Amino acid sequence: MAHQSYNFGGRRQEISREAKFVSNIKLDFILRSKPSIRYLDDLRDLLYDRLWSKTAGNCELYYMYRNLSRVCDFSSQTVSREPCGFTRILDEDKTAIEKLGVGYDVTIIPPMMLGAEYVKTAGHYHPMSDCGLPYPEVYEVLEGVAHYLLQKLEEDRITDVVLVEAKKGDHVVIPPHYGHITINPSGKELKMANWVSGRFESIYEPIKEKRGGAYFELENNFVKNENYDNLPELRFVPPIDVPELGLVKGKPMYDLIKTPKKLEFLNRPDKYADLLGKVLD
Ligand SMILES: [Fe+2]
Repeated sequence: MAHQSYNFGGRRQEISREAKFVSNIKLDFILRSKPSIRYLDDLRDLLYDRLWSKTAGNCELYYMYRNLSRVCDFSSQTVSREPCGFTRILDEDKTAIEKLGVGYDVTIIPPMMLGAEYVKTAGHYHPMSDCGLPYPEVYEVLEGVAHYLLQKLEEDRITDVVLVEAKKGDHVVIPPHYGHITINPSGKELKMANWVSGRFESIYEPIKEKRGGAYFELENNFVKNENYDNLPELRFVPPIDVPELGLVKGKPMYDLIKTPKKLEFLNRPDKYADLLGKVLD
């Protein structure tokens, strides 16, 4: 009988492949993780459609599952029944992830119009790392379509604004200095993952102060946020593979945990500055 072991509550346990289905249900029941939820009330001041924003009732907008790791590599079944397909059980991956000082998260954004504007995340910047560059990040679209709005902040000015449309299997690197907002511009659920350093808290204030990102995405066009001065025109850039970082379309980036060197750029962007400077060309 084939066996697979895993850590649970500090106790090493053995489960047979034959027994895994029952075991999984138990684990899921015990360890089902709750997502952080963003509500309309959290984003009310960041929307294009002020009239709608003032009158709409509060509701859930999107769901963030933080610090995930796969339990064990069963070939044909996911271990958890969570919508994101991951759970938070202690295991070898989790140990490796913590050692690296990074985190793997999944965010689910159901389709919705926020008045005239497509549903989106609140948006944030990353702080400066010890090596002298702000922390980068990388996203992968798991299901649906994402529009990543990236805006470069340099000395209180937005010097570049980029829109990357990404579909299932695409990866999008957020280089240092770029604040970012994710928009779901489709009628389908967007499910996406990210790898990011675990050594910082995101900075939300600059986007809050401007009452949103540099541009709003409406049904048929993008509109400049008038609270920003001298905004550059929006650039449209396709997602690209970055094989140096192990990012290849269709190749799940969760597996980068098997080659930790490929995730080094998240905490040491200085060592990859040239590469990170080209991902939005
Ligand atoms: Fe981020």
